[in-house]
Parts: sequence; C-alpha cells; structure tokens
Amino acid sequence: MKKTGIFYGSSNGNTENIAKTIAKKLNADLYDVAGKPVNEIQQYQNLILGTSTWGSGDLQDDWDSFLPQLLKADLTGKTIALFGLGDSESYPDSFVDGMGIIFEAIKDKGCKIIGQVDTKEYSFDSSRAVCYGKFTGLPLDEDNENNLTAIRLSNWLKEIEQNFD
Ligand SMILES: Cc1cc2nc3c(=O)[nH]c(=O)nc-3n(C[C@H](O)[C@H](O)[C@H](O)COP(=O)(O)O)c2cc1C
Repeated sequence: MKKTGIFYGSSNGNTENIAKTIAKKLNADLYDVAGKPVNEIQQYQNLILGTSTWGSGDLQDDWDSFLPQLLKADLTGKTIALFGLGDSESYPDSFVDGMGIIFEAIKDKGCKIIGQVDTKEYSFDSSRAVCYGKFTGLPLDEDNENNLTAIRLSNWLKEIEQNFD
C-alpha cells in the first residue's frame, strides 16, 4: 500500500486522538489542518480526511478555512476515505454533518471516495453525511458511544486498507 496522509481538524482533541490512532495503525503521516498543510497533499495517493461537527451541523473551524485550499489541489485519481466525529444524542438532526460537507465538496473532483458505512448501527434522525442510504465515511461518537469506537475503527480500517492503492 502506498503511503497515506491523514488530514484532520479538531477543536477539543477527539478527532485528533482518532487521527493519531489511525496514523499508528497504518503507519501514515499526520497533519492538523490548522497548520494549513496544503502543499503536503500532492505527495499522497491515499488520503484520510477527518473532521468533527460544531454549531448546528457546521464544519470544524480549522476545516472551514482549509477546505477551500484543499479544493484548489488536484485530487484527480486519488483515493480518499473520510471519518467524522459527532454527538448523536445531543445533535441527532445534524449528526456528523461536517463529514457530509467535506464529501459534497470533493465528490466531483475526480477522486475515488471509499469507506462508506451502513447507517443501521447508529441512532440519529438526520445527517448531511448520508448519501444513497449510507454514511459517506466512518462516524464516531466519543460523547456517547466511545465503547464502540475501537471495533468500528478496526472494521473500517480493514476495509479501507483493502481499497487503498
Ligand atoms: C457546541 C457544540 C456543537 C456541536 N454540534 C454538533 C453537531 O451539530 N453535530 C454533531 O454530530 N456533533 C456536534 N457536536 C459534538 C462534537 O462534534 C463532538 O463532541 C466531537 O467529538 C468533537 O470533536 P473534536 O474535539 O475533535 O472537535 C457539538 C458539540 C458542541 C460542544
């Protein structure tokens, strides 16, 4: 598998912790988007993008300014997996919307987006991150379901590793 770059935005450290865990497991490089690492994108064939959701369905703050920069990069032919942190109990109407915002922004940029996840194991009312009945990436809920994070993550990583170049 070619080297993977993980780009994450995190306000209170939850997304950062997950990103660090993934980096260890995949031996991947890790970038906090707060550092505007736009020049690093091009060197990776495989990308993992992680965000939390804030406000009412808003992208994490650092992603807000980084997403337009990411969109200026050439994503053609890249393989991309998304993960999103959210709180399905307090925000059931905008659960992991941030992941959906990133998906919508990159979906027509010529990249292949992998790692879609079944919605049936999650309890929520509405999410911008659901497309054709599936989550566009891996949702994780450290606020209410952190007991499920390890197994969700390990299943997802197995799948994306098979589909990364
Ligand atoms: C003020 C506030 C607003 C939030 N809004 C949402 C939301 O709309 N949807 C959601 O799924 N989670 C929401 N969350 C939950 C966070 O996304 C969640 O706690 C996440 O783990 C934070 O990750 P981070 O520390 O990496 O930023 C919100 C949390 C707070 C405190």
